[in-house]
Amino acid sequence: MAMRITFSIVVVSAVIVTVFFISGHFSGWSNSDTEADFKKVKLVGAARRSGDEPRALISAEIAYRFKPISKKRESDKLEEGLARARAAVRRVASIRNNNSVIMDSNHIISSSIYRNPTAFLQSYKEMERRLKVYVYEEGEVPIVHDGPCKDIYTSEGRFIHEMEHGSHRFRTSRSEEAHVYFMPFSVTRMVKYLYKPNTYDLTPLQEFVSGYVKLISTKHPFWNRTQGADHFMLSCHDWGPRASEGNAHLYNKSIRVLCNANSSEGFNPQKDVSLPEIHLYGGYVNPKLISPPRPTIPRPYLAFFAGGLHGPVRPILLHHWKGRDPDLHIYEYLPKNLDYYDYMLKSKFCLCPSGYEVASPRIVEAIYAECIPVILSDHYVLPFSDVLRWEAFSLQVNVTEIVRLKEILMAVTEDEFLRLKEGLRATRKHFVLNQPVERFDMFHMILHSVWLRRLNLRI
Ligand SMILES: *[C@@H]1O[C@H](CO)[C@@H](O)[C@H](O)[C@H]1NC(C)=O
Ligand SMILES: *[C@@H]1O[C@H](CO)[C@@H](O)[C@H](O)[C@H]1NC(C)=O
Ligand SMILES: *[C@@H]1O[C@H](CO)[C@@H](O)[C@H](O)[C@H]1NC(C)=O
Ligand SMILES: *[C@@H]1O[C@H](CO)[C@@H](O)[C@H](O)[C@H]1NC(C)=O
Ligand SMILES: *[C@@H]1O[C@H](CO)[C@@H](O)[C@H](O)[C@H]1NC(C)=O
Repeated sequence: MAMRITFSIVVVSAVIVTVFFISGHFSGWSNSDTEADFKKVKLVGAARRSGDEPRALISAEIAYRFKPISKKRESDKLEEGLARARAAVRRVASIRNNNSVIMDSNHIISSSIYRNPTAFLQSYKEMERRLKVYVYEEGEVPIVHDGPCKDIYTSEGRFIHEMEHGSHRFRTSRSEEAHVYFMPFSVTRMVKYLYKPNTYDLTPLQEFVSGYVKLISTKHPFWNRTQGADHFMLSCHDWGPRASEGNAHLYNKSIRVLCNANSSEGFNPQKDVSLPEIHLYGGYVNPKLISPPRPTIPRPYLAFFAGGLHGPVRPILLHHWKGRDPDLHIYEYLPKNLDYYDYMLKSKFCLCPSGYEVASPRIVEAIYAECIPVILSDHYVLPFSDVLRWEAFSLQVNVTEIVRLKEILMAVTEDEFLRLKEGLRATRKHFVLNQPVERFDMFHMILHSVWLRRLNLRI
């Protein structure tokens, strides 16, 4: 994807260099229309004489119109900055670091949870140093510039709000200096305001998305430059992926940050970003999950799950284990006198099967509760798995192995269990929504995933 960005920018730059060369003493951007027109004619004439394809002519003209010389230097500077960031990350990526922790100012980074801890830290710092995001101003609340900040789709609204109203460290109003362009629409709001209940007709959502892309690509030059490859959208709603079908380039080229990250349904981890789903009743983390019991306090239950019979995986789980074994507390509906979070805090393992869609808010709840998440899903691309080693703080059990679940959990040794719990504690900060935001928290991890895709680096 970003290869393509780089490629098209190289092409555009090449065209500009050619323009620069052809016009000889042309030394700057002029506001005078007549002068500009004159130069354009000269340029077109020169290109025609050189026997260029009409296509190249058109792009030369577009490049001429939208890339005045001073701005060309800006886009060169942008690419140079990205190249430096890439080189810096690559340099440290090859250094093997055997320390179990690395320090970054006040942060202790526990190495075990990252694929490549030094490369992650370097790319994170490069992001802090350089990343600029342009947020489109087009569109109106409630569907654009706003989103749900409580309940199941919290991640969607909180990110949009942070980009719109939070600290503006990464946001730029100078669109030409941006590395990525954010389209701040909310699919959850589209479902609320545009969808006709019980019709299962998603065309109104797709039409909205299509119209939005049309609007920004007509008003601004940025979309057409890369066909949306340096643009991103974000949605936690199950229908985020379906809504993105409204524009083929958005679907196939843009960075889609989605909770519903099902790799069998078009989610492409090379360019798309898996967004954690967080269920914040009333907008707050349940107080019980804020300070879980000390790790030395024994947990009486081996495993816990309670939830409806949704989707393809849960029927298998409930069929094999509901009410079958005193060590596995598996419920469809938790009896009224029992507390869901008390159960999580008293269990060693928290089962996180997919429901109607692959993501489950249970994963983040389990991280908060320091209950080892057991991920039961097919085709789910786990959040931040581009940098995090999920095996350092969770278990993944193949859906076909659910019948052996107890055996698998019993086989985890005490040492292994303590190691996983330590991993969980180190990971927690990446899944927390802070207000105001803090370094390494979920907001920054989402931006970092977008940044990595713009850099076109795998670490
Ligand atoms: C790190 O550990 C590996 C394997 O255990 C070893 O080969 C390597 O030399 C160590 N590197 C450093 C910098 O200590
Ligand atoms: C981008 O391309 C579309 C479709 O080709 C076109 O309608 C639109 O005017 C272009 N935008 C700009 C800013 O040139
Ligand atoms: C994405 O690209 C594929 C292959 O070119 C195409 O078949 C598909 O229709 C595109 N997706 C959308 C939503 O347009
Ligand atoms: C993921 O996508 C596949 C293919 O469409 C589908 O069969 C499966 O049910 C999806 N998973 C979930 C949990 O929705
Ligand atoms: C899960 O099991 C199926 C069938 O045994 C196998 O094809 C698949 O590769 C397994 N998936 C993983 C992630 O191990």
